[in-house]
Amino acid sequence: MKILVTGGAGFIGSHTCVELVNRGYEVVIIDNFVNSSKRSLDRICEITGVMPILYEADVRDESVLSEIFGEHEIDCVIHFAGLKAVGESVAMPLRYYENNLGSTIALCNAMKRNSVKKLIFSSSATVYASGAEPPFSEGSPTGGCTNPYGWTKYFGEQIIRDAARAEGDWSVALLRYFNPVGAHKSGLIGEDPQGIPNNLMPFICQVASGRREKLNIFGNDYPTPDGTGVRDYIHVVDLALGHVAAIDYLSKNVGESVFNLGTGKGYSVLEMVKTFERVNDIKIPYEIVGRRPGDLAVSFTNTDRSAGVLGWKATLGLDDMCRDAWNWQKKNPNGYSGL
Ligand code: NAD
Ligand code: WQD
Repeated sequence: MKILVTGGAGFIGSHTCVELVNRGYEVVIIDNFVNSSKRSLDRICEITGVMPILYEADVRDESVLSEIFGEHEIDCVIHFAGLKAVGESVAMPLRYYENNLGSTIALCNAMKRNSVKKLIFSSSATVYASGAEPPFSEGSPTGGCTNPYGWTKYFGEQIIRDAARAEGDWSVALLRYFNPVGAHKSGLIGEDPQGIPNNLMPFICQVASGRREKLNIFGNDYPTPDGTGVRDYIHVVDLALGHVAAIDYLSKNVGESVFNLGTGKGYSVLEMVKTFERVNDIKIPYEIVGRRPGDLAVSFTNTDRSAGVLGWKATLGLDDMCRDAWNWQKKNPNGYSGL
């Protein structure tokens, strides 16, 4: 079976490509490297022994999509390609809507023209409404997003749902990820943020490596046990395996399905720092500063549906996430650009 992976050179895409090849799938990637490096493909090859087929192009380019669907018999598409920086999306909303929604529409059009009927979409826990009560289940209220990035995921889901309903025989999985962290255990692929990291784990890793002096903890006055924000961190390899499970699910089920992918456990920022320090034996200097606008106090998932219907469960814990994230950072202090 051949899988088209949009954004396959990125953080989650590269880990998913490894698990797809391990499962015996043939992988075709389309990526324009707007937020990734071609070197991640060499690393996928080093891990698996197989170099994925690459189309270096923008997913919005429908002529390239036609070429891909003409040259390969694609069974299923996994759509990772998208811009994902929340702050940048506030400053450049049109760029986000154009890229994230334009790519989704172009992809659905090309699938329709070429009778490709299976699609897995990278959505996010950010689509849950800020008033929703954790743990979030797939039926929790959505919308009321606090930034344009979040809206692109919300509208992206809706566009795909409508396209699938109009076709009638599409099988679509909308996967809402919680907080993906960690790296492949080889340390050959991992998260490679450009500039100052927005997310907690890459920031901690850069403090550990001496690239940044200290971590700023955004608020310790939340209604949580230690006052810092609580999140459902999920190891990126578990997340990648969630996509493999979704392919199996789509081969037996027509229509659209939503699945939350998380562990179901919430950890605070301070728990994260302490675990990283213990597992890797490194001190992480930090300072408590004010809250970051738009942050929730608590976010974690109910896992009933992903376990019961999708048949998938995360198996790696916070120790694995902290160990593997640091292993990648240590081996690649400047990410792929240092190679
Ligand atoms: P990433 O930036 O590492 O990967 C995205 C990839 O898509 C990159 O390789 C980038 O070059 C490519 N890309 C972007 N726009 C493109 C376009 N128009 N044409 C071709 N390629 C394009 O991000 P990631 O963390 O791997 O995230 C993958 C997906 O998962 C994204 O859609 C993201 O919004 C979603 N997601 C991520 C998180 C997270 O915390 N990392 C959480 C929830 C959802
Ligand atoms: C986690 C916790 C911060 C950095 C974001 C996006 C979301 C999704 C995943 C794509 C929070 C705290 C962070 C720092 C800190 N992406 N923190 N100091 O905000 O849950 O989710 O990434 O869909 O859309 O919003 O993740 O890693 O940024 O923050 O104290 O330097 O760490 O306040 O409590 P978040 P995060």
